[in-house]
Amino acid sequence: MDRIYNFSAGPSVLPVSVLETASKEMLNYKGYGLSVMEMSHRSTVFEEIISSTENSLRKLMQIPDNYKVLFLQGGASLQFSMVPLNLMQKNKQADFLITGNWANKAQQEAVKFGDAKIVASSKDKTYSYIPVTKKSDFRKTADYVHICTNNTIYGTYIKPNDLPDVGDLDLVADMSSNILSEEYNVNDFALIYAGAQKNMGPAGVTVVIMREDLIGQAPDNIPNYLDYKIHADAGSMFNTPPCYSIYMCGLVYQWIDKLGGVKAIGEINKEKAQKLYDYIDNSGFYKGTARKEDRSLMNVPFVCENQELEAQFVEEAEKEGLQNLKGHRSVGGMRASIYNAMPTEGIDALIKFMQDFAKRNK
Ligand SMILES: Cc1ncc(COP(=O)(O)O)c(C=O)c1O
Repeated sequence: MDRIYNFSAGPSVLPVSVLETASKEMLNYKGYGLSVMEMSHRSTVFEEIISSTENSLRKLMQIPDNYKVLFLQGGASLQFSMVPLNLMQKNKQADFLITGNWANKAQQEAVKFGDAKIVASSKDKTYSYIPVTKKSDFRKTADYVHICTNNTIYGTYIKPNDLPDVGDLDLVADMSSNILSEEYNVNDFALIYAGAQKNMGPAGVTVVIMREDLIGQAPDNIPNYLDYKIHADAGSMFNTPPCYSIYMCGLVYQWIDKLGGVKAIGEINKEKAQKLYDYIDNSGFYKGTARKEDRSLMNVPFVCENQELEAQFVEEAEKEGLQNLKGHRSVGGMRASIYNAMPTEGIDALIKFMQDFAKRNK
């Protein structure tokens, strides 16, 4: 088996055992004589798949009973507009922390529907840090405060115990690139959303976890698909859901559960990231681009002290089976995305290549 180490920011690496199970079940799912791709979403067997997938996620994230879990389409990008359309209703105000491109896109979308205020931003230093805020920075009248817990492009993140103090305000989080990577307390949030294609499964499904009392605020004149109530009432079966992606997420959730749950994988993630950051910091050849205190466990952007070597680095790494390491065009350099499913061996192989490359090019 010639699998590469895939450092892509998303869609990204999936656990091999999950892919193996999916391939075993591809033609004949558990003796039903058909693939999950071919099943009616109204069949009993698919109903079991979606409900067990939801239950696994509830168990992993300890989602309280007063929260709904929705499996939607449209990516995290559709949530940039669904959230304000549904939640920016009482005072038509929402406050935003701009910690990267995605947070920025969420705010730009919300501007179309109301007063979306930028409370703090790290744009001044290419989003290389998380700005500090205090409770009084947020408007008491804001319908919610929006954050992005992990900034995929810039490699910074807001730690579970370092969320902004928003007092009684509702906190909404785009958790697309670090959901299930570490324990966050769902009770700290009014709504969490995440596209699946980084830490949960293939692209096509977006998970929304929201407090029940927030459902039902959308105006009547919005398209049905954009109203959370429609989806909540229909158990994510308002229309045909992304059945296969949901099934794959279920397999990934089971994989995390078997490893010991989110706490256990969080420890592994910290070790993996620490190993890579330690090497970068001590190399004298590479440099991390994010502020140390705010470094992401999932996306590790770095540059060569001699930037002229970066294209060569990416090209040679590709040949060694270490792929998709080119940094986002807005940061340059390299970025290693090391999501849950990236094995420690992948980190070791990357460090070994980096050492060798540094030796040859010093
Ligand atoms: C943090 C974050 N939010 C949102 C998105 C956009 O997600 P989607 O492509 O699912 O709309 C991404 C994609 O990379 C992301 O990393």
